[in-house]
Amino acid sequence: MDFIECLQYITKYEYNKYTMKNLKERGEKVLSPVLGKYFSNFEIEKGKGCYLFSTAGRKYLDFSSGIAVAATGYSHPKVVKAAKKQLEKLIHICIGVAYYEPYVVLAERLSEIVPIKNAQFFFCQSGSEAVEAAIKLAKYVTHKPGLVAIKGGFHGRSFGALSLTTSKMKYRDGYGPFLPKVYIAEPSLASISKILKTKKIAGLILEPILGEGGYLVFPKKFIKGVRKLCTKHKVLMIMDEIQTGIGRTGKWFASEYSGVKPDILCMAKGIASGFPLGAICAPSKIMGKWSPGAHGGTFGGNPVCCAAAIATLDTIKKEKLLKNTKKMGIYLKKKLLALKAKYPIIKEVRGLGLMLGVDFKDSAVVKKILNYCLDNKLVLISTGADGTVIRFVPPLIVKKKEIDQGLRVFTKALKSVS
Ligand SMILES: Cc1ncc(COP(=O)(O)O)c(C=O)c1O
Repeated sequence: MDFIECLQYITKYEYNKYTMKNLKERGEKVLSPVLGKYFSNFEIEKGKGCYLFSTAGRKYLDFSSGIAVAATGYSHPKVVKAAKKQLEKLIHICIGVAYYEPYVVLAERLSEIVPIKNAQFFFCQSGSEAVEAAIKLAKYVTHKPGLVAIKGGFHGRSFGALSLTTSKMKYRDGYGPFLPKVYIAEPSLASISKILKTKKIAGLILEPILGEGGYLVFPKKFIKGVRKLCTKHKVLMIMDEIQTGIGRTGKWFASEYSGVKPDILCMAKGIASGFPLGAICAPSKIMGKWSPGAHGGTFGGNPVCCAAAIATLDTIKKEKLLKNTKKMGIYLKKKLLALKAKYPIIKEVRGLGLMLGVDFKDSAVVKKILNYCLDNKLVLISTGADGTVIRFVPPLIVKKKEIDQGLRVFTKALKSVS
């Protein structure tokens, strides 16, 4: 590059850097409009711990965790170090081509914490893919055609997972017909029992806490009842812990609260602190019946993602984040309940650990509060069929002083709409 070319290059670069339109305007031109947005214009450049930094240099306290993902916070040094080390060693090989250490080690580590004995694992890249794997495994092993999901559940957007999803009709509209022989049960044992008695069902999928359905916690008695019905009718119980798992509720898995052991367990989201990774596991007596090649994928269980997941699990253990999640969850819930007593605009506070929902039964109010909070440097997002619930899902590393900081903004937002 000669001097003139160099000058031209710098001028062009500087031109792009300083005079191009913002990301929203540029994105609108080149990105699919299908991408839903919580906020009309929010641009992030980097994240650290519980904080996000915008392209305009504003520092935000984040209680969204990128939709319940950033378990150890943004760019936790141990996760970054592990991923970097793996990046330099091996980015990809595919487990179908060769064994590699992070894939095996991650399965070993997870087998120590999942509520399933003699668990065997299959890794993929997302929650939806974990659900796809789970329903394929259930069908393959039982030789039965039917699947049951609970009304209000969210299991993902790929076709199989979407067929089981009813949390928002928007997700389904325009995509029918769906997978055949999928039965959507009311969240009652009577409704489930009726289906299991009369249809040939391979698997029943259940979230212990409805996530996208509005942070509704299923009673222990209900989950235990579902377990009994599944056992009675030889139906595999698939627990979708994609949002509730990996410490989010203060235990490794929310199933532990009911003491129920599922037949197939799905996880994703927080597992690798933001690297795309999903997993299912089942006892060897079930998983062992899945023949080699009956399912698979090129990228599932990528070495860098697995290394990040191992570092995430180590960090949760070393920094006692389960304990922190429980403690901070109790503290936050108490404060939110106190706000409910003061502001009748809040209709309900519910959830477990750091998976808490504040239901306003009014989506317009929720939108106003979310925008107020964002303007005041607090990131909160909504959930629920009609977006009437504000969810509090901060990183599991969150400290009391950060919760207090967030609550100060949230309280001002409540005042502004009351
Ligand atoms: C309970 C549950 N299952 C499945 C999914 C789908 O996961 P993904 O978006 O990674 O495909 C989600 C995502 O929100 C979820 O919360």
